[in-house]
Amino acid sequence: MTDSKINSLPIGVFDSGIGGLTVVREILRRLPHESFIYLGDTARVPYGTKSSQTVIRYSQSNSRFLISKGIKLLVVACNTASAVALPSLRWDFEIPIIGVIEPGARKAVRITKTGKVGVIGTSSTIKSNAYKKAVENIASEIKIYSKACPLFVPLAEEGWIDGKIAELTGNKYLEPLKESGIDVLILGCTHYPLLKSTIQKVIGDEVVLVDSAEETALEIERTLKENGISNESSSSYKSEFYLTDVSETFISIAGRFLGERIERVEQVDI
Ligand code: DGL
Repeated sequence: MTDSKINSLPIGVFDSGIGGLTVVREILRRLPHESFIYLGDTARVPYGTKSSQTVIRYSQSNSRFLISKGIKLLVVACNTASAVALPSLRWDFEIPIIGVIEPGARKAVRITKTGKVGVIGTSSTIKSNAYKKAVENIASEIKIYSKACPLFVPLAEEGWIDGKIAELTGNKYLEPLKESGIDVLILGCTHYPLLKSTIQKVIGDEVVLVDSAEETALEIERTLKENGISNESSSSYKSEFYLTDVSETFISIAGRFLGERIERVEQVDI
């Protein structure tokens, strides 16, 4: 394939459901000329409560589907899948693969002053210690304080992103982190950027929130440049959305995550 042909290929992005659209929103903002294909595994969501073996198996089939569509880069937008499946995907597939853990970890290390960093995510992400390992790989002296916040996922999907219930839930989860003296908190789940203002209110203004979606978009930009595969021409732009289960509920929630309504979604069996 000629270089210019590779450059115009889309970026493949998958998530366990529609949460990964927070990453797509950041890609669109930073890299408006890049085409993408999104796969949300809505038939098998959530991944956050499943075993590592199952998440790895699902991630492999998602990757195979996207690669078969002809993509130049694969983005694992799901924190849970990035936490448990990334090494095996990098082993199985030759295409450049970006997860959401390393970019968030790097940013946290860069900005912490106290050397105490908090991480919140699904139960599987926290149990995997993936953020802890990623941070310690860069700076072993940094102390990590983690907390699984599983109820943030349904709250974000229900649109209950502020108000009493979100704040009470936030207080219950984040109280131990507040006492630990962290000055940075990594939002280690696709859904948490939607709850940013509530999380900030609960944890306090002195703690800086790291949005993995924003950092991942930066990492994608860097990787495309380094590999010489950025697309500079806007004429070939296209976006495709695939879900493994399409329901009206998902379409309306998806609009909230992406910031705009998705007009066309195709259901696929992978
Ligand atoms: N996408 C998942 C994550 O970022 C959250 C939803 C799920 O549990 O599948 O961890």
